[in-house]
Amino acid sequence: MFSMTRDAFGPDFVFGTATASYQIEGGQTDGRGISIWDTFSATPGNVRGGDNGATACDHYNRWPEDLDLIERGGFDAYRFSFAWPRLIPAGVGAVNQSGIDFYDRLIDGMLERGIQPFATLYHWDLPSPLQDKGGWMNPDIAHWFADYATLVQQKFGDRLQAVATINEPWCVAFLSHFLGIHAPGYRDIRAAARAMHHVLLAHGTAVKALRAEGAKNVGIVLNLQKCEPASDSDADRAASDMFDGVFNRWYLDAIFRGIYPQDVLDRIAPHMPKGFEAEMGTVSAPIDWLGINYYTRSLMAHAPEEPVFGVRSVEGGLEKTETGWEIYPKGLEDLLVRVASEYTNGPIYVTENGMAEIDEVEDARRVAYYDAHLQAVMRAKARGADMRGYFAWSLLDNYEWAEGYAKRFGLVRVDYKTQERTPKASYRAFQGMLHNG
Ligand code: FCB
Repeated sequence: MFSMTRDAFGPDFVFGTATASYQIEGGQTDGRGISIWDTFSATPGNVRGGDNGATACDHYNRWPEDLDLIERGGFDAYRFSFAWPRLIPAGVGAVNQSGIDFYDRLIDGMLERGIQPFATLYHWDLPSPLQDKGGWMNPDIAHWFADYATLVQQKFGDRLQAVATINEPWCVAFLSHFLGIHAPGYRDIRAAARAMHHVLLAHGTAVKALRAEGAKNVGIVLNLQKCEPASDSDADRAASDMFDGVFNRWYLDAIFRGIYPQDVLDRIAPHMPKGFEAEMGTVSAPIDWLGINYYTRSLMAHAPEEPVFGVRSVEGGLEKTETGWEIYPKGLEDLLVRVASEYTNGPIYVTENGMAEIDEVEDARRVAYYDAHLQAVMRAKARGADMRGYFAWSLLDNYEWAEGYAKRFGLVRVDYKTQERTPKASYRAFQGMLHNG
């Protein structure tokens, strides 16, 4: 059970749960094209156990049962993502009618159950033919992405409550092109700098394209991380500021102020695409809401031996989840208050929050995690952040990217052999709060 009632969040506060296409859908048989996660996961050494999303939670076939779980949980909304390669197999050009039909069924299924559809256009499954042309390193991606956004708005826009362009641009750019941990697995500063700009340019271009088709509630989802210095030394403080720039300010400054933070730019300027300054107006196209994904903090130390940014993260001493991430609800409160006071007085949603836990249905530690983070949201709201909703990550145990199926984030357990779904104590905690008002 949670310690609060839903009334504490106000009458219009939206509770939802979130997933992403590649992590749950499977269903690769309907004309869907290949994505960078299909090939990345097929390459030895990239994903734990060599796991891939070919079947995942078989949500492609089992979506009615999954929507029933959302409805029975008492959730108001479902944050899902469209698979770009399912809708446009080559990334540009011909549309796959079976893919359109699938999302028609899914969205209509939500509406029939009184669930508000919160859609994300890009949650990391880039069509491979676009990667062949450089993917996020190629400036043309702004137009490829905007054309895809236009299609989504034309086909589904009238039924969507909200649309987010990109999920977690830091991961799309930095984790995938500098740290090499996610597809396409580059470890290259020039690749990263280009992706860091093009992902935002594509966002802004898509915002304009969506609006041109009548979209009214457009946002973006950023993963923000509270950066703290590993010690009180000036050097570690500076390291924390620098990583805050790379992780948080790069995206917040760009979207809300139309600039990149100078301290980060100083480190990567030679690798930035020529003429990016002229595109910052597009990058900062006004949005209607901001989504924030929050999991943990980063503890940063001065590390002059590290290339480019001269910082490294160190292990902290707080209690950790199964992914080794420290549990730090105060970081969520701090970030929400900071974003609200420094960047936007517009609507903010927590679009993802949750933890990986060992495989158990009585997940008391996860219940406590959610409770503490929901309290953090309430405190941020009381301190002036315009909090509009909270989405638990995730509805189901699912394909956790480079960690494969080993890390379980679900409110509902998935038996990957039988595809049986079993609600956990954390699901029942939400159900209790949401059904009891
Ligand atoms: C976020 C991703 C989501 C999931 C969670 C645990 O970074 O958006 O797909 O992997 O982390």
